[in-house]
Amino acid sequence: MRLLALTLLCSLSLRAPRALCCPCHQPELCRSVEGARDLEVFVFDVGGKEWRSYDWTKVTTVAVFGLYDAELMCFAHSRGARVVLKGDVSLSDIVDPANRTAWIKEKVNLAKKQFMDGINLDIEQAVDTSSTEYYALTALVKETTEAFHSEIPGSQVSFDVAWSPKCIDKRCYDYPAIAESCDFLFVMSYDEQSQIWGDCIAMANAPFSQTITAYQQYIQMKVDPKKLLMGVPWYGYDYPCLNFSKDGVCTIPMVPFRGAPCSDAAGKQIPYSTMMEQINSSQSGRMWDEKQLAPYYVYKDNGGQIHQVWYDDPESIYLKTSYVRTKGLGGVGMWNGNLLDYSNNPIAQQQTRAMWNALIGPSDKDITMAANCKPVLQH
Ligand SMILES: *[C@@H]1O[C@H](CO)[C@@H](O)[C@H](O)[C@H]1NC(C)=O
Ligand SMILES: *[C@@H]1O[C@H](CO)[C@@H](O)[C@H](O)[C@H]1NC(C)=O
Ligand SMILES: *[C@@H]1O[C@H](CO)[C@@H](O)[C@H](O)[C@H]1NC(C)=O
Repeated sequence: MRLLALTLLCSLSLRAPRALCCPCHQPELCRSVEGARDLEVFVFDVGGKEWRSYDWTKVTTVAVFGLYDAELMCFAHSRGARVVLKGDVSLSDIVDPANRTAWIKEKVNLAKKQFMDGINLDIEQAVDTSSTEYYALTALVKETTEAFHSEIPGSQVSFDVAWSPKCIDKRCYDYPAIAESCDFLFVMSYDEQSQIWGDCIAMANAPFSQTITAYQQYIQMKVDPKKLLMGVPWYGYDYPCLNFSKDGVCTIPMVPFRGAPCSDAAGKQIPYSTMMEQINSSQSGRMWDEKQLAPYYVYKDNGGQIHQVWYDDPESIYLKTSYVRTKGLGGVGMWNGNLLDYSNNPIAQQQTRAMWNALIGPSDKDITMAANCKPVLQH
């Protein structure tokens, strides 16, 4: 109620330009959050009210990819967590420096108006090395960071990068320069089968060694490990199998992507919560792939079609996030915070807690629970 009343006051005061009115019940909650954290826990939020059930003892930044929610901003600030905008623009629109400046100004003003603490640049477009867009992108990151840092003291500018810097999905960006120019690179260590060059089969969304090798590539490019945030998936891929072999290999339809003949686009992304509902009634139950260090299961749909589902759970996530600590990366994060089951169901609550804990380091109990598997069929 309090929030509503104040929001009303805000809209009335719109007549007086520049009067920024704080929607929180304590005006100091509208101040931007400052200071560095030992470990960033960077959460993408896609809207809705699940954020109320997040583990706020861990969250340090929420990137708002859904509608702006003043209540979320006030609450995050009360927990010392930043709230940042989503920044997405077609690169051809910001090649011109004046257009770039205009775009940045608009974002800074929006962030100020909404009492936000920075921006997450999510530009996943294909770019050729040394093209006009290549330089424009680097300039965009640099200028956005300068503008935010000077206009909103303590603000944070992050940039989303593919799981590997090796022109994945034709994203040939100047990674060292971009990292140098912003606070964090959020490494999207998922969708790692977006370009399948070998056998067209279902595989893990974020296999362990492929994921870790790519961090080594970033570090070899002289990206400061402190600037790298490890992004893990809270979703998996459900693949319909064209053919399901005796040794458990699921052949998937050929769906080309950015030059590769096959892709995870042959599957469907599904939330962790959905998989946890489905897994116990699946044909296989939870299986563990010893090569990719990832769980999966097999089920038959109502039409008799076999599906293989590859995902991440506390065990596979913990293996990866352990590297964050041993290598001194800047933090962790996930796509996305909304994908867990935040209901009152005690089993769901336990699974949800285990997922949050795996970002930092789970208890032994969480691991034992996750590893409650049937005999493993390998491939
Ligand atoms: C760049 O800005 C100019 C002047 O505002 C505008 O007319 C033009 O359409 C913009 N170009 C792009 C590609 O956005
Ligand atoms: C499908 O799998 C079966 C059993 O593993 C195998 O014998 C057959 O050659 C496969 N067919 C195709 C089209 O891959
Ligand atoms: C699924 O089975 C596991 C292992 O037996 C159990 O711990 C878990 O609670 C079950 N999940 C549901 C939703 O019943």
